[in-house]
Amino acid sequence: MKFLFQLLVLVSFVLISCSSDNTTNPSDPQAYTTANGIKGGMLYDKFWSTESGYDQTNPNIAKYNASGDFFRCKQCHAWDLLGTNGSYNGRGPKTNRPNVAGNNLRTFAQSSTPQALFDAIKTGSVTRRDISSDLSTYDPATNSTIGDQMPNYSQLLTDAQIWDIVKFLKAEAFDVSQLYDASYTGTYPTGKVTYSNHGKDGDATLGNTFYTTKCAACHGTDGKQVPDLDGTAGMTAGKFTRSKPNEVQHKVKFGQLGSIMIATPITLNEMKNLYKALADTVKFPN
Ligand code: HEC
Ligand code: HEC
Repeated sequence: MKFLFQLLVLVSFVLISCSSDNTTNPSDPQAYTTANGIKGGMLYDKFWSTESGYDQTNPNIAKYNASGDFFRCKQCHAWDLLGTNGSYNGRGPKTNRPNVAGNNLRTFAQSSTPQALFDAIKTGSVTRRDISSDLSTYDPATNSTIGDQMPNYSQLLTDAQIWDIVKFLKAEAFDVSQLYDASYTGTYPTGKVTYSNHGKDGDATLGNTFYTTKCAACHGTDGKQVPDLDGTAGMTAGKFTRSKPNEVQHKVKFGQLGSIMIATPITLNEMKNLYKALADTVKFPN
């Protein structure tokens, strides 16, 4: 009897621990199970930021800062993970910014095992750019091959950091198609995007409550209190969200690195509600 009871306790414990997390399964590597996908989101934005915990004494920091967009995952794969297939279809290269990548990282991440995704980031099968490469002579018209290559991250990140990014890509990154509609026209680098239906079937009342609790202290009840967001005259929280929903979802969940706006824990439904609320141009004017 006592044994049966213990067995019952054990079985229910196993059932509870399985059902509590549907993003991992028992065959996953331990390093993936324990990885931190929120840290991973910060690493995806700017891996050498202080928020991500990167070693600030790393000798390459000056190089990363001098050529930031050549190292940030988000520059080549975009906030929506869609590369040239999404919001970055019009973000052409400059001498200080490489071409956007053509692959769909969201689809690849969802269809790969954690181990395969880890391997693709760490080494991959295509030539990766060595950290010693000279990026100061990058020119989109005449000298773009090396600069456009994905960096050799086995030189830049620890395995634990790569696992954090894997967790971000598989489990924490929002599927933006659930948050808004986008119509992409033309082809990279001269494509265009139009956003609509922000928040989709989200609940604006719940979104307003979320905003009041998590954002209003800094941004004010109308979204205007932090002025000129993104260095753009007159840019408010509402206008920014309506014009760049591809970006705001990441900044809210993983933080605006380098500022007092830290990561806000938020579910997909809460994000939809927030977008639905911020779509209101009367409550959150331009
Ligand atoms: C300078 C641009 C650039 C940067 C920065 C960059 N990538 Fe890439 N990435 C590419 C390109 C181009 C490819 C396709 C060729 C290849 O696999 O190297 C690619 C391929 C990939 C693949 C393989 C996808 C597939 O379909 O096989 C993954 C996964 C990936 N990148 C993740 C990342 C992550 C995570 C980061 C940041 C830690 C990152 N990339 C940073 C340009 C970049
Ligand atoms: C602790 C204060 C604080 C809180 C809380 C906060 N923000 Fe911010 N937010 C800021 C500051 C300051 C900036 C400007 C940072 C900068 O210039 O890099 C900013 C930037 C932004 C931006 C512009 C991002 C960009 O790329 O320039 C948006 C959009 C935004 N916040 C929305 C929100 C939303 C929505 C919430 C609630 C979920 C929120 N913020 C919570 C202080 C805050």
